[in-house]
Amino acid sequence: MYKAHFHLKRNPFDLTPDPHCFVPTPRHNEALAALYYGVRRHKGFVVVTGEVGTGKTLLLRCLLRLLENSKDIAYAYLFNSRLSPTDFLQYVLSDFGLPASGKNKCELLIDLSKFLVNRGSNGLTSVVIVDEAHDLSADTLEELRLLSNLETAEDKLVQIILAGQPELDQKLDSVELRQLKQRIALRTQLGALNAKQTLEYIEQRLRIAGADSSQPPIFSAQAIDQVYSYSRGFPRLINTICENALISAYARQSSTVTGRIIEDVAAEFRLDAFVPVQQNP
Ligand SMILES: Nc1ncnc2c1ncn2[C@@H]1O[C@H](COP(=O)(O)OP(=O)(O)OP(=O)(O)O)[C@@H](O)[C@H]1O
Ligand SMILES: [Mg+2]
Repeated sequence: MYKAHFHLKRNPFDLTPDPHCFVPTPRHNEALAALYYGVRRHKGFVVVTGEVGTGKTLLLRCLLRLLENSKDIAYAYLFNSRLSPTDFLQYVLSDFGLPASGKNKCELLIDLSKFLVNRGSNGLTSVVIVDEAHDLSADTLEELRLLSNLETAEDKLVQIILAGQPELDQKLDSVELRQLKQRIALRTQLGALNAKQTLEYIEQRLRIAGADSSQPPIFSAQAIDQVYSYSRGFPRLINTICENALISAYARQSSTVTGRIIEDVAAEFRLDAFVPVQQNP
């Protein structure tokens, strides 16, 4: 709707976690490198946690993009983690391209083990990636741990990546799951961006969407400060505020998103509470 008005080729703040829009902040870059290293070096369990809307799903999609280019890697990608252990195994098998329906848990485990051992002995890498892993039941997590026991004297036969909200950390800290916790080889965290990173994030997403950097900026400096205050640097909130601010600026036929516009959007989204409290001198 506003693309022509701002001379953009695509919506800069789309909420879909699209790797094409990835902004390599230091934290995201580091986390992506850790995931890739974990898979490539057969580290076994890797865990990434972060608050809601910090970029975990996007990170996994960026990783999948990297893995897709490697012929020696097969992966199963689960984004619905509210599954019983048997349904979970069934999903993993079918995502690896193996027949799974109608099999009981024992048969599923035998087939999966054969598949993983066979791939491992041919020098191939197999990865199980679970998004929303904070929703995994203790039983399914235990199943994953047992799966991770599949190893030769020198190598782990399945690489497991868990991504989830901070509740996942709490789950992994529970006494019940202490065995799994000990098996985690790499742990990485995503968080909110700082003010400078928020500015760079907004600029870069606008650039990816085709903004002409030789033209005056679409967002005023004050607007960007306000986006940071109201979003506290959480990427999904930054996107929501910026997207709505662009719509609002277009409706007002304004060529710039001003601080006033951000305030109006924040009020509509009831984000006032996020404004930092002013300290008394
Ligand atoms: N480094 C980044 N570069 C570009 N966009 C990002 C980045 N980090 C987050 N985003 C954007 O922020 C939004 C939220 O990201 P994402 O859906 O990956 O978060 P999440 O951590 O998986 O959230 P949830 O816990 O709710 O599942 C998406 O629109 C995503 O594209
Ligand atoms: Mg997500």
